[in-house]
Amino acid sequence: MSTWTRVLGIESSCDETAVAILACRGNEVRRVKDLVTSQVPIHQKYGGVVPEVAARSHVPETVSLLTQALGRRGLGSFDVIAVTQGPGLPIALRVGIEAARVLALLSGKPLIGVNHLEGHVASAWLDPANRRKFVFPLLALVVSGGHTELVIMKDFGDYRLIGETQDDAAGEAFDKTAKLMGLPYPGGPQIAKLALAGDPNAIPLPRPMLHDGTFNMSFSGLKTAVRLAWEAGQATGIKKEDVAASIQQAIVEVLVHKTIAAARHARVASVALVGGVSANTVLRETLGARLRDELPHVGYLPSDRKSITDNAAMIAAAGYWQYQNGTRHDWKKMEARPEWPLGVR
Ligand code: KG4
Ligand code: ZN
Repeated sequence: MSTWTRVLGIESSCDETAVAILACRGNEVRRVKDLVTSQVPIHQKYGGVVPEVAARSHVPETVSLLTQALGRRGLGSFDVIAVTQGPGLPIALRVGIEAARVLALLSGKPLIGVNHLEGHVASAWLDPANRRKFVFPLLALVVSGGHTELVIMKDFGDYRLIGETQDDAAGEAFDKTAKLMGLPYPGGPQIAKLALAGDPNAIPLPRPMLHDGTFNMSFSGLKTAVRLAWEAGQATGIKKEDVAASIQQAIVEVLVHKTIAAARHARVASVALVGGVSANTVLRETLGARLRDELPHVGYLPSDRKSITDNAAMIAAAGYWQYQNGTRHDWKKMEARPEWPLGVR
């Protein structure tokens, strides 16, 4: 039996600073450390993420989380270093990367630059219940604040983009429409909470590109439609719960429709739902139910509830896949890749 590989993961691509150590052996995973500090309270003041502010707070947080994670064993507590190299905010990414480079220099251990989106895909694999069902070809719906993509995964490390948003990401659509209604950042969880008490059919909202035959999506029209309905509704006593439920319904319907169509077209064996927006219960349940009804032979792998929003366990997990595939990066040359698409080496 092979030995355990301990992977140190570091994440700083946006507004969460995170450090984790995973012990991996084949399909077995142990979470040795899984630390995250969120800057959400800091960015709430501005109504969104301010890159310079994010980078400045990543610096002390990265040092503090690394100190906690490495503990007394220090450089002896890991075998491999995995750091988010992109996509993300350039100056935020650089904080994690510089820390990882110094650790690689001092420890002499291999360094792997991980694609943040591959990290999100790995968050489905982190759930032990999913791991047995993680079979290829797999379709991943990656839905976060910055990305909305449908990706075919043929093997670990082998990705092909088959559909994506043409404008705003689904998370961005939640965040921007929430802002219009005066709700705090990030808007997704706020909308989801209000929607529990609302009527999803109360306000007619557009579902652009629903039947265009592609696996692409568009969410920017939602902002205008919600703004018009919200402004007109002020005089008639529109309920914010109804608006929230209608927004959620419009976004979920598009995501689920496109995912089912892509799964059918690509004849996949499993479907993963990952990224910050996969925290949305209505999305998780609707996609699960539709797959059960329409493609019952296809496995459903929603992201591990413990690793949905940005974290370092998912970065360590994707780093482990890459490590197994033989990927090694030179710490002397590693730079941030702010626009790194999934599937490009
Ligand atoms: O993956 P993530 O943590 O960061 C990025 O890489 O972007 O995703 C954050 C996004 C935000 O847009 C947030 O509003 C959304 O995920 N989100 C949700 C929910 N929880 C977080 N959207 C809808 N419903 C939720 N429950
Ligand atoms: Zn993310």
